Amino acid sequence: MTDTRAHRRFRSQEWFDNPNNPGMTALYLERYLNQEYTREELQGEKPVIGIAQTGSDLAPCNKIHVFLMDRIKAGIRDAGGVPMEFPVHPIQETGKRPTAALDRNLAYLSLVEVLHGYPIDGVVLTTGCDKTTPAMLMGAATVDLPAIVLSGGPMLDGWWNGKLAGSGTIIWESRRLLADGKIDYDEFMERVCASAPSLGHCNTMGTASTMNALAEALGMSLPGCAAIPAPFRERMAMAYRTGRRAVEIVLDDLKPSDILTRAAFENAIRVNSAIGGSTNAPPHLQAIARHAGVALDIMDWQTIGQDVPLLVNMQPAGAYLGEAFYRAGGVPAVMGELAAAGLLDAEAPSVAGGDMEGALAGARSRDADVIRPASDPLREKAGFVVLSGNLFDSALMKTSVISADFRARFLSTPGSENVFEATAVVFEGPEDYHARINDPALDIDAHTILFIRGVGCVGYPGSAEVVNMQPPDALIRGGLMHLPTVGDGRQSGTSESPSILNASPEAAVGGGLALLRTGDRVRLDLNERRLDAVVDADDWNARRAAWSPPALHNQTPWQEIYRGTVGQLAEGGCLELATAYHKIARDLPRD
Ligand code: FES
Ligand code: MG
Repeated sequence: MTDTRAHRRFRSQEWFDNPNNPGMTALYLERYLNQEYTREELQGEKPVIGIAQTGSDLAPCNKIHVFLMDRIKAGIRDAGGVPMEFPVHPIQETGKRPTAALDRNLAYLSLVEVLHGYPIDGVVLTTGCDKTTPAMLMGAATVDLPAIVLSGGPMLDGWWNGKLAGSGTIIWESRRLLADGKIDYDEFMERVCASAPSLGHCNTMGTASTMNALAEALGMSLPGCAAIPAPFRERMAMAYRTGRRAVEIVLDDLKPSDILTRAAFENAIRVNSAIGGSTNAPPHLQAIARHAGVALDIMDWQTIGQDVPLLVNMQPAGAYLGEAFYRAGGVPAVMGELAAAGLLDAEAPSVAGGDMEGALAGARSRDADVIRPASDPLREKAGFVVLSGNLFDSALMKTSVISADFRARFLSTPGSENVFEATAVVFEGPEDYHARINDPALDIDAHTILFIRGVGCVGYPGSAEVVNMQPPDALIRGGLMHLPTVGDGRQSGTSESPSILNASPEAAVGGGLALLRTGDRVRLDLNERRLDAVVDADDWNARRAAWSPPALHNQTPWQEIYRGTVGQLAEGGCLELATAYHKIARDLPRD
């Protein structure tokens, strides 16, 4: 290995040290030399390590990376590399309208262009907020330059009145208390802000914690990286070690295509079940797999993931937050428990070098109340169920958040366990939902299923996190906290709602949901894993014949480009044409 290291010519030398084109080389050099670099560095056979900076004032969930930058660069320099930080299009989950999901593919696209078009030999991918992690991994997979993930880590635990207050999860709870008249607006605001006490990403097992855990489960970060809270000293040490490792993987030519194997994706699916991971994980992991050229299917989530038990006791599926998860051992402990139960492919590779077994180094849970052994889980069969029927080809249901109360109320009709018939109430997007949910004329009761459509990738655009609809205030006051909900959008990873979501194809492109009407009978059969409108075939076909696509209003050029190129959530919501590009780092751009 040392031998090949000594003789490798780096990609960046095509820019900075190309004797065949001294004119262009001089042009490249002079501009990079007018800042912190010297000719000895740029022409000294040192790899250039890009650092994809996702943090900014607009992206506070990732802002810890601004403060970690010195440590990343120190690691890169100490290992003999030249660090070059560059900005990534911000993707902040809660601040970006109409939704941050619209920007995942934009940040992906721009990262691909940067990694391909600049003198970069390897890259540190800084991750944190929900879509930043998949966007960075999708880009690295397409380009296939050596790449390593550095998570920013969760915020410190939030507290309110002596109780843990978790990101997002406290919002859903407080909204119900506000609707019920139990708290006022000021207390609502105080409760929610108490859940965010420091820099870092969401401290619940929402989409941010999930995607960082899955990046680690895929083998794309150093072991132990995902769970370290952002402000901890261990996070700074991890930044330094990640910078060092970024140089070594360039020297060893260890690329995403060496790590992102089918076995790695299967491990990630199992880990997602064990952590009670977000329902946003399937589209993101699907997208990463497609850009990596690995065959993965929505049904894999059920066949590989459904039987895996829930081990991590973290909100929204459990009780604790990020600090406890870290102290109990984080992702290596989860993977160690899965491996001990024969539920992990320990031969899958790791960016740490070697396989997962070596990377995990025998890690096990250090606190069985927070990370359970597989023999004593919080819940058996904690993965997603994939439903189909005449309303969609596929939709997901996260069974780990179905409460006993919900199950008893909706899924335990005498004589028909797991079957529920109800009347549909259909909303055309979140504005319609908010305008009409408390309208008594809708007759919403415990025998209603709430539907929302027009909120998928094309319809919204970008797919909105709105499927976890709250029942009317009057029902909440009567003690009914959840109704079954269905939609072609997504829901927040911090939500504890047992919704049926990510329905594909979406209504805006003619999925069956488009044909449903308020008042239709619908039948949910979890035994058969079906949801169907109980409408006779002639009527259904007549509705199909009368359907025409909705008029879509684009507010920006990107919205139009996005809508014209995006696929469905079941296939990852990718920029479809981009999935044909693989390993493009080998194809050097023109001088
Ligand atoms: Fe950014 Fe949750 S909103 S991590
Ligand atoms: Mg979200």
